[in-house]
Amino acid sequence: MKSLFDKTKIKSLDLKNRFIRSAVWMKMANVDGHLNENIIKTYEELAKGGVGLILSGYAFISKDEQPNSKMLGIYNDSFIDEYKVLTEKVHENDSKIALQIAYGGSQSNHPDAKKMNILGPSAIENKVTKITPKKATKKELKDIVKKFANAAVRAKKANFDAIEIHAAHGYFLSQFLTPLYNKRKDEYGGNIHNRARIIYETIEEVRKRVGSEYPIMIKLNFDDFMGKEGLTKEESLEVFKRVDELGVDIIEVSAVNESSGKGLAPARTNINSLDEQSYFKEVTEKIASTVNAKVILMGGNRNVDLMNDILNNTEIEYFSIGRPLLCEPDLINKWKENKKNTPKCISCNKCFDTEPNSCIFNR
Ligand SMILES: Cc1cc2nc3c(=O)[nH]c(=O)nc-3n(C[C@H](O)[C@H](O)[C@H](O)COP(=O)(O)O)c2cc1C
Repeated sequence: MKSLFDKTKIKSLDLKNRFIRSAVWMKMANVDGHLNENIIKTYEELAKGGVGLILSGYAFISKDEQPNSKMLGIYNDSFIDEYKVLTEKVHENDSKIALQIAYGGSQSNHPDAKKMNILGPSAIENKVTKITPKKATKKELKDIVKKFANAAVRAKKANFDAIEIHAAHGYFLSQFLTPLYNKRKDEYGGNIHNRARIIYETIEEVRKRVGSEYPIMIKLNFDDFMGKEGLTKEESLEVFKRVDELGVDIIEVSAVNESSGKGLAPARTNINSLDEQSYFKEVTEKIASTVNAKVILMGGNRNVDLMNDILNNTEIEYFSIGRPLLCEPDLINKWKENKKNTPKCISCNKCFDTEPNSCIFNR
């Protein structure tokens, strides 16, 4: 019988349990993406709280653009030494940390986005931000792939234990999968593998640069919930299979983007019953049974017995948790002591309304 507190190893990554802090943008970095004491303290506190692996908030990989304000940066080598301080604090407290790397595109919520160099698969106005990106040339696409790989190399040099490529939630890489935003007629548009080509190229380039033993993670949508305008479950399964073949080590399954509308979000509200928890479990279970990579179930994980049941009856092996750890960074330690402990988080999403992002029960 498997336990949520099993020790596991994925290539060079030794994990003390199966809990992962899902990436959470803290709105806490300096405006240029550099670190400060508050950030270091926040991650130190998370590490002390017992989580096996922390995914950082998304970090922008290009100085030209960024999907949000006060997010972490990793766009040049000046970040390496300060991230070393951060990773050391996490390691001193017996946890591991991966850097999530992202390119934003037209879903940028940064107040200065309209002044930035915003690229996209096609020059189509974003439904939510009203930004029309410039259609990326093939040379620009190669450049972005290189920026992902450069960012991954910097993360490795700064002693992050892994990197996660953010290919979900309607940001640049994810937009290529979304027919509404990708009308390209070249090899980056059309059928699903063409639309996913930029993601495949990113994985290949990152792998080439970080070596075979460094864990590569990816966060990928299984559905945009936009009908035919979006990525569908059937198509995404092909992408999950292919990224697996390309040697991604850990896959975090997500869904939805800001253009999905209807109040849909990867961070769902109104999780009031056990049935509403772990809300992507059916599709994630199917993906986990199809790929060789380790699979993380994300979204609404709130109950130890339920996660334990999923762990022992499916191929899902890891559970990521976002909002509850903003509320209680020591939730995993509390669960270790008492598996019946109910998290305080009520999934209200008011954590997005403050600066830094914080929980109404922990400000
Ligand atoms: C304040 C906040 C910031 C977030 N920032 C990121 C991010 O930087 N990258 C990302 O992939 N997801 C981000 N997410 C989504 C979470 O990683 C997670 O997928 C989502 O909250 C659902 O998990 P939960 O129910 O455990 O909170 C964010 C969510 C919140 C609430």
